[in-house]
Amino acid sequence: MKKLMNTVAAAAMLLGTATMARAAENVEVLHWWTSGGEATALEVLKKDLESKGITWSDMPVSGGGGTEAMTVLRARVTAGNPPTAVQMLGFDITDWAKQGALGNLDEVAAKEKWDDVIPTALQKFSKYDGHWIAAPVNVHSTNWIWINKAALDKAGGKEPANWDELIALLDNFKAQGIIPIAHGGVPWEDATIFDAVVLSLGNDFYKSAFIDLDPAALGSDKMKEAFDRMTKLRTYVDDNFSGRDWNLASAMVIENKAGLQFMGDWAKGEFIKAGKVPGKDFVCMRFPGTQGSVTFNSDQFAMFKVSEAQLKPQLVMASAIESPTFQSAFNVVKGSAPARTDVPDTAFDDCGKKAIKDLAEANKAGTLFGSMAHGHANPAAVKNAIYDVVTREFNGDLTSEEAVKELVAAVAAAK
Ligand code: GAL
Repeated sequence: MKKLMNTVAAAAMLLGTATMARAAENVEVLHWWTSGGEATALEVLKKDLESKGITWSDMPVSGGGGTEAMTVLRARVTAGNPPTAVQMLGFDITDWAKQGALGNLDEVAAKEKWDDVIPTALQKFSKYDGHWIAAPVNVHSTNWIWINKAALDKAGGKEPANWDELIALLDNFKAQGIIPIAHGGVPWEDATIFDAVVLSLGNDFYKSAFIDLDPAALGSDKMKEAFDRMTKLRTYVDDNFSGRDWNLASAMVIENKAGLQFMGDWAKGEFIKAGKVPGKDFVCMRFPGTQGSVTFNSDQFAMFKVSEAQLKPQLVMASAIESPTFQSAFNVVKGSAPARTDVPDTAFDDCGKKAIKDLAEANKAGTLFGSMAHGHANPAAVKNAIYDVVTREFNGDLTSEEAVKELVAAVAAAK
């Protein structure tokens, strides 16, 4: 009996050690990648880490753009229990760094020479006070259109080169009996369209309004024109657009129910997941009037301060994310461009190759801007203030004139 007890005790001890060892090699990851395309991309990261002996505790918080995820995160940190790594955008990373909540990746960043290969536009958010605090996974951009190729062909096959041609195409889609614009009416999606509409009225205008928050640009006639364009676009969405998830809007284009979607290139992940081929089933193009310019957002994994035991898996995860092979494999599936400048574009489809090329060219030309809608132009308070006005105007609660005035006031109050 005594022998049996000893064996049980020894087994329990062993099990305990094994559990501890496993726990030490675990990362808990909070993210909002819950759509089909996003989840498939995330699987690439999970598998990669598993192959390195790191297990993955998943903490998905659905809601594109990450608004809901950021609320859950705050609750976790307030409770003194932050996850190991958190998907995060731009200024949100800086905000957490300012609060002293983030860890330090300098050791791995120095060893792997991240300074030399990660674009400075991303480093602005991956570093705080000279220290690496986050590992960038990708670069997305928001000024894209995803068009159903069959519907475009029926309309003559020409990609719209300017605003008037875009409107003519939308009218044609209406005449074809399909929904011209597949849209999910939630604030971040309205704001994603607004990114492109404002950029289509000029690089300087986008910069003054959203990067510099210049009251003169925010309150200008041009801004009124931007809202007028939103009012016009609103006439091409279906009656059920309100509250629809972005990936369901992508599905409408994929299933020939709608003509096009204005969305960041994570939408491509949905098309690819559905087996669709760029150039054959769908067309990717920049929002008319924004060719040569890019509004970008980069998903990064911000690394929180963790216990000593958790440090190793955290660093392994950061290193795995920056590996050039992983960068290619992941971003091919996700629809984004790599977060390093030295990753070959060979494995990418035509839209991916275009994304990589556009980013490099815009960076060189000084026409690469942080996306307002996706937290790369301003801290959350300002972003949310803009969301609010854009959504109210889009839903007809404000006229363009009122929206301009409200925008100036809301930004001033939030700054
Ligand atoms: C963006 C994010 C993308 C994609 C999208 C929709 O903010 O950068 O990776 O996930 O939200 O969920």
